[in-house]
Amino acid sequence: MNVADKDSFDIVVIGSGPGGYVAAIRAAQLGMRVACVEAGALGGVCNNVGCIPTKAMLESAKYAKKAPQLKDFGVNVGEVTLDIAIAAKRAKKVADQGAKGVAFLFKKNKIEQVSGWARLGGKGTVVVEGKDGERTLTAKHIILATGSRPKSLPMLEIDGDRVWSSDQAVFAPEAPKSIAIVGAGAIGMEFADVFNAFGSKVTIIEALPQVLPLEDKDCAEVVARSYKKRGMDILTDARLEKATVTRKGVTLEVKAADGKVQKIQVDRVLMAVGRAPIIDDLGLEKAGVKTEKGFIKVDDHLQTTAEGIHAIGDCAKPPLLAHKASHEGIKVVEHIAGQGHGWVDYDNIPSVTYCHPEVASVGLTEAQAKEKGVDYEVGTFPWSANGRARTAGESEGFVKIIRGKKYSEVLGAHIVGPSASELIGEFILGRHLETTVEEMEAAMHPHPTLSEAVAEAALAALGRVIHM
Ligand code: NAI
Repeated sequence: MNVADKDSFDIVVIGSGPGGYVAAIRAAQLGMRVACVEAGALGGVCNNVGCIPTKAMLESAKYAKKAPQLKDFGVNVGEVTLDIAIAAKRAKKVADQGAKGVAFLFKKNKIEQVSGWARLGGKGTVVVEGKDGERTLTAKHIILATGSRPKSLPMLEIDGDRVWSSDQAVFAPEAPKSIAIVGAGAIGMEFADVFNAFGSKVTIIEALPQVLPLEDKDCAEVVARSYKKRGMDILTDARLEKATVTRKGVTLEVKAADGKVQKIQVDRVLMAVGRAPIIDDLGLEKAGVKTEKGFIKVDDHLQTTAEGIHAIGDCAKPPLLAHKASHEGIKVVEHIAGQGHGWVDYDNIPSVTYCHPEVASVGLTEAQAKEKGVDYEVGTFPWSANGRARTAGESEGFVKIIRGKKYSEVLGAHIVGPSASELIGEFILGRHLETTVEEMEAAMHPHPTLSEAVAEAALAALGRVIHM
């Protein structure tokens, strides 16, 4: 290989999150010469400060919450003390292992990892600003997988000290005495769980009428009830209007739906009001890549407005989810290679919030089914009637199926409770294979398992539930 060859690639992927690194691996599998440029740690937000370490913290939160109940299981562990710094250290270790895992996969697949900040140059070029200077890569195809970053609100900027984003909250050195969490989406609800478990006084402020606004109302209600029982304050229909940061903490003014303003004094605030795609300082304009509503503008095949440049994941379009980004990465690469293995199944994107109780869903909520005017039947099966859930002492919540009456298909499935994140897989696969609700029940589920609740909810939607 001569010097020029070493900088020329079939595909250059910008960003090594779950969109970018998966795209790079798929491209290498298809025989392409691939480089992946990353300015931070391999694995992106998901592996390093997002999905993975947050789940490690939630695992610690689960034990913290369970520990006082262990005596009921016949296990006496003595006095329980909590140390969030140790939990954070463990979470960081898990994340670091993941980054090493991506490095291993790159090596195995002969993908060149290029460290630095990438900007689009002229046609087919990417200029990487690394710590040892600039390097220009040429590529037949470029995939932008630059991800997203936390959003602030104009009245309260994230400062990393009194006002955190998830980037600071994830490895918190201590649990604040009190914390206000603005936004009750996945990030807000997951961190509320963690800080409550580690002893913080948690107040959740959500502008919309329910927590987890994108989830089925019944599921959101179960979580809200559970959180309130654990001592958290939840203010829904409540907007953060004003905030004053002092040396001692933050004073928030929150306006309720009836116009009344409530003052809340807290040690810290976590901003969980959404994430914004990273589209700045990438040389997009120079390369002819247009943006639209804050995202990189893409067509149905995730091709940008510039030939040879695709965009995937959070920077391309919602929902901002790691699994959607990975699927887009694979499909875009296969499309570039002219290999037809179908396209991303956008109608079947699952959503999971890993708080306790967990919430997982796929397809339409009941409100959406109503709005669409579809003729549907609801089948719900509570965990309190499932033997395995009772043995585990986890009887909060239910499995809910929304069955289309005409074709008996699974229009939507919603689980709140134990292992919801794993059980939703049955519905994702069922919907992918266009199964009927009758078939979901007819497939025999082992006894006693949580998965029996899936079959029972199917029976409930057919009007012949057994254990209720
Ligand atoms: P989100 O958009 O899901 O939720 C933000 C919430 O903040 C909304 O419910 C909104 O109504 C509320 N809000 C906005 N302005 C407000 C104000 N002034 N006062 C009170 N409430 C206000 O965003 P989130 O939770 O920050 O997550 C960002 C992205 O990351 C989402 O797309 C999410 O799906 C993804 N994510 C997914 C996870 C998962 O799959 N488990 C975990 C973490 C993040």
